[in-house]
Amino acid sequence: MDRIKIVGGAELKGSIPIAGAKNAALPLMIASLLTPDTLELENVPRLSDVRMLKRILGNHGVDVMVAGKRAGDSGEGGEVVRLCAAKIVDTTAPYELVSQMRASFWVIAPLLARMGEAKVSLPGGCAIGTRPVDLLLMALERLGAEITIEAGYVHARAPNGLKGAEIAFPKVTVGGTHTALMAAVLAQGTSVIRNAAREPEVTDLANCLVKMGARIKGIGSSTLEVEGVAALRGAVHRVLPDRIEAGTYAFAAAMAGGDVTLEGVTPDLLQAALDKLSQAGAEVSATNNGIRIRRNGRGIMAVDITTEAFPGFPTDLQAQFMALMTRAGGTSHITETIFENRFMHVQELARLGAKIRLDGDMAIVEGAQTLKGAPVMATDLRASVSLVIAALAAEGETMISRVYHLDRGFEGLEAKLARCGAQIERIRG
Ligand code: UD1
Repeated sequence: MDRIKIVGGAELKGSIPIAGAKNAALPLMIASLLTPDTLELENVPRLSDVRMLKRILGNHGVDVMVAGKRAGDSGEGGEVVRLCAAKIVDTTAPYELVSQMRASFWVIAPLLARMGEAKVSLPGGCAIGTRPVDLLLMALERLGAEITIEAGYVHARAPNGLKGAEIAFPKVTVGGTHTALMAAVLAQGTSVIRNAAREPEVTDLANCLVKMGARIKGIGSSTLEVEGVAALRGAVHRVLPDRIEAGTYAFAAAMAGGDVTLEGVTPDLLQAALDKLSQAGAEVSATNNGIRIRRNGRGIMAVDITTEAFPGFPTDLQAQFMALMTRAGGTSHITETIFENRFMHVQELARLGAKIRLDGDMAIVEGAQTLKGAPVMATDLRASVSLVIAALAAEGETMISRVYHLDRGFEGLEAKLARCGAQIERIRG
């Protein structure tokens, strides 16, 4: 298994191209099941989760083709992936595949909407608290699906097609909104999705569905009105930039000090996180083509955060911000409201010298610690990258094992940091 070795202390200077968003690419790829035509996605990140989803979609009969590299192509800018579900050969998504990646559960919606039936294993994915699917199933039931759960599989049936309905989510759910949207676009009649997630990745999916012929009003708001259509067609769509990757490198730059420009991303995608970063003492500015983060000589200040649905502070940046706060001049309070048990990184950060106390859904970080390199273990995708951030400012060497977690969500992490001067290398094996 690969490991990543980091020797802390180097400032970061340079620019980092931001990849396409994993959390948008996955639902967009799944949306290809909705049409017999080709959906062409540009700027798809090269990640293990994307590779896994290609296999899962292949299993349903989707023809997945990756456009070849052109001369002079740097490899940055992601892949162009063409997905064609001309014929769906299997409406079952087996445990062996779904258990590897939670997002693949969402295939249930387009399979049901187009084929009238789907049998999908209950998901696995990151071990961050209980991550139920009751609201996803509620949405499908509202649209007329008959749902049974047996032997770890959800069986959804709508032999006469789905029917438009009102779906009111009791809490904001990204997965629930993706599912409701992908089902409602092919339902007969109009659906209204209330308390819909407003995450940019939901908006990206909705925009792509519109290009495919869907009728959706209220995109970007918490009420989506969907007028079902009989069929969707192919489209070409560019995956939006990854705000979580951008936020991660922004925090890394603030942690290590220096001057880093994140290319290809706009501040509005992660304004809440950038505001907190400014309060912590980093200089944040928009450039023509990205976001510039500087911290030259000034200390890091303690700032409290609470994770919330978009446009609040994203749960996917909580662990990284905690790493930054271990070096702040004071005590900060980090409250996680989206997931219980999303504090697995606390123990590993402690191995580097962080002082963090847990009190229910709050982590209390005593800053101003001198971090010291140590062997640590990645536990989940975002937790593991918080260790990278801590290691950049730790004295000596940190060796991170189980980096396959990182490969699920960060394309070329070590290359992107190394080009800015970090002492980081992957040790294969
Ligand atoms: C969530 C995050 C998303 C992040 C992803 C991966 C939010 C609103 N969503 O999306 O930004 O990228 O994790 O870390 O921040 N829930 C139920 N029943 C359900 C579905 C969800 O109770 O059927 C609950 C969850 O337990 C959680 C909340 O709703 O407390 C939000 O979950 P949801 O947005 O669906 O999770 P993801 O789609 O995984």
